[in-house]
Amino acid sequence: MSLNIEEELNYIEKVKKINQGKNLKYLILTMGCQLNENDSEKISGMIENMGYTKTEDIEESDLVVFNTCCVRENAEDRLFGKLGEVKRIKEKRGTIIAIGGCMMQEKHIVEKMKQSYPFFDIIFGTHTLHKFPKDLYTKIFENKRIEDILDIDGEIIEGLPITRNDNIKASVTIMNGCNNFCTYCIVPYVRGRERSRNPEDILNEVRDLAKQGYKEITLLGQNVNSYLRSGNVDFDSNVKSFADLLREVNKIDGIERIRFISPHPKDFTDDVIEAIRDCDKVCKIIHLPLQSGSSQVLKAMNRKYTKEQYLNLVEKMKKMIPDIVFSTDIIVGFPGETQENFEDTLDVVRKVHFEQVYMFIYSRRVGTPGDRMENQIPEKVKHTRFDELKELVEGQISENNQKYVGTIQKVLVEGVSKTNSELLTGRTDSNKVVNFYGSEELIGNVVEIKIISEHMWYLKGEINRR
Ligand code: 5AD
Ligand code: SF4
Repeated sequence: MSLNIEEELNYIEKVKKINQGKNLKYLILTMGCQLNENDSEKISGMIENMGYTKTEDIEESDLVVFNTCCVRENAEDRLFGKLGEVKRIKEKRGTIIAIGGCMMQEKHIVEKMKQSYPFFDIIFGTHTLHKFPKDLYTKIFENKRIEDILDIDGEIIEGLPITRNDNIKASVTIMNGCNNFCTYCIVPYVRGRERSRNPEDILNEVRDLAKQGYKEITLLGQNVNSYLRSGNVDFDSNVKSFADLLREVNKIDGIERIRFISPHPKDFTDDVIEAIRDCDKVCKIIHLPLQSGSSQVLKAMNRKYTKEQYLNLVEKMKKMIPDIVFSTDIIVGFPGETQENFEDTLDVVRKVHFEQVYMFIYSRRVGTPGDRMENQIPEKVKHTRFDELKELVEGQISENNQKYVGTIQKVLVEGVSKTNSELLTGRTDSNKVVNFYGSEELIGNVVEIKIISEHMWYLKGEINRR
């Protein structure tokens, strides 16, 4: 255990003592991706160990934490929208306001916060998350505003407490940061360079999750298939690559399913494809971010592959793993994107038949090369293209859903449906939501379900009784 973490655990104890018997509540609001969700689980773990219990009601919160995202403008707008509400709560009951995450790594945002929203108590960045207990202690004792942001890459901290959001599925971060500098993307600036976790720490975490009864593991990183390929990777472990890691996680008893997000097409080496093929627990749906189907736009995006290379990779994977399917991310309206370029994106979508497409309108991010490009696309054009892509994708999804009807699917049962307490809900290997009638004892098991109908965003089924 590093010195850092011991110090933090001490601060956790100190704050816990002060808070004893006070019945304090905290609320955490998470924006953005699954990496942020996983960070929030760590923040929650620290906070709960300091004597706060979770609430969803801002009116009764003694501590409010925002874990922010800056990947697109709408995530930023959401924070600024919420801050007004929080100011009122703080005035009413002295609530401590802490704001952390990716947005706080941007200097112009921190300046804006200080000028327009000066009522915050703590701001912390992506590299100082583990220091939250110390920041909170200092805030309580010295009653001063804390800005705890580091520009240099933080170390990987092991051993922090964690409060997980789910008891069947768990995310495990395997690396932080990104070295790719896609020209639209702010992530490399706010999360720093790639740092891989020690494979043994990852495997221990997964073994521990298996013991606790978790069934599905999602390995997380900004670019998971460059795991152990950059930075300091001199670990004492037999695991030397992402493919090795998949094979080792696959051996862990109790785990039924393994997923990972996100890989980069340029790093999708054969050893990884072979590991996916050979490992029975690795789900045969691969999230393969396309971003654009036009080689010209891909070049401007600095994605380092062409339309043809992407399609060839998909073909190769389909050949090696016949039942494989794909999901993807697509951005429309990147600077310079012509109608013809956009048609190439539609063409790839028609050819690959993705199970799921996460569609985004290009959003200018301060400090990225994309923002400095002159040939920005008018908002109206971006929206028209987005709608056209959406129509194509939705048509494909409903067509694809039809193929499920009548089939038997293995469904990992996640819980009772939120909208109907008699229904159970779970997911197929390909990540489709399936609802069906069944008893709660099935939760956490993989059950064979016969699909009887499709409803765009979910399938309905019944237990397959042979
Ligand atoms: N504008 C729109 N979408 C973006 N993404 C990343 N940066 C931007 C941006 N500036 C999308 C990419 C990425 C996903 C997580 O978010 O598609 O894969
Ligand atoms: Fe952003 Fe590209 Fe890195 Fe993904 S790979 S985080 S899109 S820079």
